[in-house]
Amino acid sequence: MSDGFALRREPFDLGALGDEEVLVEPLLGSWEANIDHALARSPIDVCSSRREKKVVLGNLGVVRVLEPGRAVTTLREGDLCLLMPFGKCDRYGYAELAYAYDAPGTIGLLAKRSKIPARVLLPMPEDTPYSLRQWATYGRYFTAWDNWRKAFGCWRTQIPDDDPADHLVFGWGGGVSFAELLLAKEAGFKVAMAVGSDARIEFLRKHGIEPVDRRTFPDLAVPDKRDPGFPARHRASMREFLTRIGELSGGAGAAIIVDNIGAPVFAATLKALGRQGVIATCGWKAGMRMTTLRGAECISRHIHVHTHVWNLGDSPRIRDLQEGAGWIPPEDATVVYDFDDVPNLYADYAAGRVESYFPLYQVNPL
Ligand SMILES: NC(=O)c1ccc[n+]([C@@H]2O[C@H](COP(=O)([O-])OP(=O)(O)OC[C@H]3O[C@@H](n4cnc5c(N)ncnc54)[C@H](OP(=O)(O)O)[C@@H]3O)[C@@H](O)[C@H]2O)c1
Repeated sequence: MSDGFALRREPFDLGALGDEEVLVEPLLGSWEANIDHALARSPIDVCSSRREKKVVLGNLGVVRVLEPGRAVTTLREGDLCLLMPFGKCDRYGYAELAYAYDAPGTIGLLAKRSKIPARVLLPMPEDTPYSLRQWATYGRYFTAWDNWRKAFGCWRTQIPDDDPADHLVFGWGGGVSFAELLLAKEAGFKVAMAVGSDARIEFLRKHGIEPVDRRTFPDLAVPDKRDPGFPARHRASMREFLTRIGELSGGAGAAIIVDNIGAPVFAATLKALGRQGVIATCGWKAGMRMTTLRGAECISRHIHVHTHVWNLGDSPRIRDLQEGAGWIPPEDATVVYDFDDVPNLYADYAAGRVESYFPLYQVNPL
């Protein structure tokens, strides 16, 4: 990606290898909404915020070590690692600037070779039963782990003893919400997720998540007053959505709603949330400016949880949970585009044509 052109393939000078850096060959990268945001130059233009003319994107994926820098003692040539997308952390280990996004000087995985600080390379488990394709999806899972822990923890501050089996967790979004709902199911909750295609309905059912077909309530967004028919259609959609949530939650409303979509579903989400409910988010796929009626939120005792990425220090623990619990998507749940085909991946993802929750690109032979 370079100033003036959104996505362009061209030579990029990596510069000399620093002592704490590692020369790697990217194998599989995960296509994420942050790449889309960067290419759309919205909500920020990463080139201008980094004051760089060219940026190599791609901050989640599997790499093979080619050459560790002189001071790197923990990695050897041939090691397989997961890139942790932490450009600049605060003093507690949470990300302030994302690697290969808005952190200046960081080089991502959409390149045949890359150069990455050793501190953000997490070795893959040795002798893992899972494939590289499965591991390459970890970004959405790591993010989900962190968001779910905060959401569940907050819910428990107000509902300390109830059995989760009597409560519903509902999700809006894609792979992150999906991974989070699997954790909610594991914790004993009833789980349901909004979905927009027949293939995804089948996929969710296969994983024990109740699909809620959002095509049955297409006008959930706040009414467009310029369209005279819209308010009535909006009311019908809202009724349909709330009836469905009511059925699934025994009339109580959802205990936790994971909302990574934002503006168009926010009003409906707050209405669907039960008393003492938690709205948890780490994304704003379709709009990030929202207003709330503070009095209603206080009286309902709703807790709003906002997180971003995860804590760098938690990375080995989340990896080990994935490995130990098999909390990882099946290989056939991923789709892989060739490196030459990345522009098509970009177009397909932006147009909502990718059926898989886990789109990947392959940069080098595995
Ligand atoms: N802050 C972080 O650390 C972090 C990390 C990862 C992701 N995220 C963010 O989380 C968001 C979701 O990411 P993701 O990777 O899980 O999913 P994703 O690949 O962005 O997919 C989102 C899915 O949401 C559904 N959707 C799209 N527009 C919608 C709308 N207007 N109303 C309802 N549903 C809609 C679509 O599925 P259906 O058509 O099947 O419903 C779509 O496939 C993104 O904004 C991403 O940037 C944040």
